[in-house]
Amino acid sequence: MIRKSLHSDSSAILAIVNDAAQAYRGVIPDDRWREPYMSAEELEAEIADGVVFWVAEEAGRVVGVMGIQDKETVALIRHAYIAPDVQRQGVGTNLLRHVTALTSKPLLVGTWADATWAIDFYRRNGFALVPLHQHESLLTKYWSIPARQIETSVVLADRRWLNAPQDSPTE
Ligand SMILES: CC(C)(COP(=O)(O)OP(=O)(O)OC[C@H]1O[C@@H](n2cnc3c(N)ncnc32)[C@H](O)[C@@H]1OP(=O)(O)O)[C@@H](O)C(=O)NCCC(=O)NCCS
Repeated sequence: MIRKSLHSDSSAILAIVNDAAQAYRGVIPDDRWREPYMSAEELEAEIADGVVFWVAEEAGRVVGVMGIQDKETVALIRHAYIAPDVQRQGVGTNLLRHVTALTSKPLLVGTWADATWAIDFYRRNGFALVPLHQHESLLTKYWSIPARQIETSVVLADRRWLNAPQDSPTE
């Protein structure tokens, strides 16, 4: 079952994010690693900033989370994390399909350049890496992340964005 998150899901969401983010340890640049990866305050700040979180629930247990954030002309996929013991079973794909269907706007997602599994996940779900020269301008325009994270991240886009005249990579 996929449903919008409730305030009471916060601790389950944080547990999943912080467990699943262990995948980044030793992979992303050391200076970007932090533990916990997301604090309760950061989660609250993201919600206050307009990230709407959806959760996947199995037998009453929250097993995955994915956020979507409206950014006027586009929507961003934010904070996609699946509990490690249920990864690679289609939960992430189901959540991605669900949040994608919530908007008609072009979708963008940013992830660590070294998180090759995440890049593969989005690619197999119809996203493509945007040309390298556009990463920095998109990350600066739509995300509020530090310069160092911009340097070490990539952006993937869905078909809607790749075909959208305003942000077309052929511009
Ligand atoms: C990336 C993530 C959200 C995908 O969710 P999921 O439920 O595991 O993904 P699905 O089962 O729907 O799709 C599986 C596909 O995703 C990719 N993938 C997911 N996890 C992977 C892993 N650990 N290693 C390699 N590929 C992986 C593969 O393409 C995989 O297909 P395969 O199993 O046939 O090789 C989840 O694995 C996760 O939380 N990872 C750790 C945190 C993370 O990287 N989040 C992304 C933030 S942008």
